[in-house]
Amino acid sequence: MSCVSFAKLTTLSPHWIAHNSFSPRRHGSSPLSATRRVSLPIRASSYSDELVQTAKTIASPGRGILAIDESNATCGKRLASIGLDNTEVNRQAYRQLLLTTPGLGEYISGSILFEETLYQSTTDGKKFVDCLREQKIVPGIKVDKGLVPLPGSNNESWCQGLDGLASRSAEYYKQGARFAKWRTVVSIPCGPSALAVKEAAWGLARYAAISQDNGLVPIVEPEILLDGDHPIERTLEVAEKVWSEVFFYLAQNNVLFEGILLKPSMVTPGAEHKEKASPETIAKHTLTMLRRRVPPAVPGIMFLSGGQSEVEATLNLNAMNQSPNPWHVSFSYARALQNSVLKTWQGRPENVEAAQKSLLVRAKANSLAQLGRYSAEGENEEARKGMFVKGYTY
Ligand code: 13P
Repeated sequence: MSCVSFAKLTTLSPHWIAHNSFSPRRHGSSPLSATRRVSLPIRASSYSDELVQTAKTIASPGRGILAIDESNATCGKRLASIGLDNTEVNRQAYRQLLLTTPGLGEYISGSILFEETLYQSTTDGKKFVDCLREQKIVPGIKVDKGLVPLPGSNNESWCQGLDGLASRSAEYYKQGARFAKWRTVVSIPCGPSALAVKEAAWGLARYAAISQDNGLVPIVEPEILLDGDHPIERTLEVAEKVWSEVFFYLAQNNVLFEGILLKPSMVTPGAEHKEKASPETIAKHTLTMLRRRVPPAVPGIMFLSGGQSEVEATLNLNAMNQSPNPWHVSFSYARALQNSVLKTWQGRPENVEAAQKSLLVRAKANSLAQLGRYSAEGENEEARKGMFVKGYTY
C-alpha cells in the first residue's frame, strides 16, 4: 500500500552516488555533477504528513505521555499491590479511573494503552479512546509481544512481535490509535553483547517502519535497564552504542525521523552502584548522550521512569529542561505516574476522586518539569519512595 510521498532535494557528491543503489540517471540522461540536485526518497508512507503532525501534537509544551500499557500479567501485579484480583473488571475500573480524570489533557498529550484497553469502554459504555480524544489526548497502543531469551547471547533477551504487525497496526489505527510503542531491553550486567544490541536495534527499526506505513507514530524504546552496580560513565558508553545502532537501522529502513518519538532511559549509575547521582549529573550525562546521537529532526524525547521514585523522575526531567534542547524533552512514565494513584485508590469507589487528584498532582509536576519549573517542595514521602525491582519485567 505504500508509495513514495516524501522526497527531499539534496546535493550529493559523486563518491556518495557511486556507492548507493538508486539510479541518479532517472532524472536525466547526463552524468551527475557534484552540484546537481536530485530527488532522494527518504520515506515511503502515504501517512507522512499525519505522522509528523501527530508526533508534534504529542510533543507539545508542558505535556507528556501517561503510560498505562501494562500487559494483563503486569497490571495484575499493580492490582495485587493493593489487594485486588487480576480480573477484567478490576483492570477496567483502574483504567477508567485514570482515563476519566477531569483536566488530564492539560498535562497529558498521549496515553499508551494495552490492547484490551484500546477496545474497552467505561462502565457507562463510553469507549476509552473517546474519553481520551475529548481531552485532546492521543490514544496509543503497545504493539510488541514481549521479551523472550535470545539464543547465543549472554542470558539476554529479544523482543517479539513483527509477525502480523502490519495488519494489527492497521486494525489499531481503525480503532483510533495514532501512535505505537515497542519496548525492548538492554542489560548492562549481561554485557551487553553485540548480538543483543544489534537485534534490539534492528527489531526497533523494522517495527518503526511498519508502524509508519500504517499511520502510527512509533515510540522507539530500547530500555537500558537500571540493574547493575556500574558507574554512570558505563551507562553513557552503552547508551551511546545502543542509540548509534538504533539510528543506523532506522535510517536503513527509511524511517521518517520527523514522525517518531524516542523513549530512552535516563543515563544514571546502576541501581546498585555505591553512589547516587544528582539530577544535575544525570541531566548532564543524558543530554550529552542525546546530543551526540539524536538528530534534531526527531520531535520528542519521552523518558521512561524505569523504577525511579516519582519525585526523582520529575527532578531529573526538570534538570534536563533548564536550558533549551533541540527536541521536546518530556515524560512517558508508567510507575512514576501511577504509584501514588494506586496507593490512594486502594480499589475503593469512595477513593476514586482522591486518586484522580493524585494523578493530576503527578501529571502537573511533570508538566512543570517539562517546562523546567518544578520544585520538589511539599512532595510527600510516598512520592519519594524508589520503585526499582531487580530483573523487572513489564
Ligand atoms: P516505567 O515508567 O514504569 O519505566 O514504564 C516504562 C514503559 O515502557 C511504559 O510504557
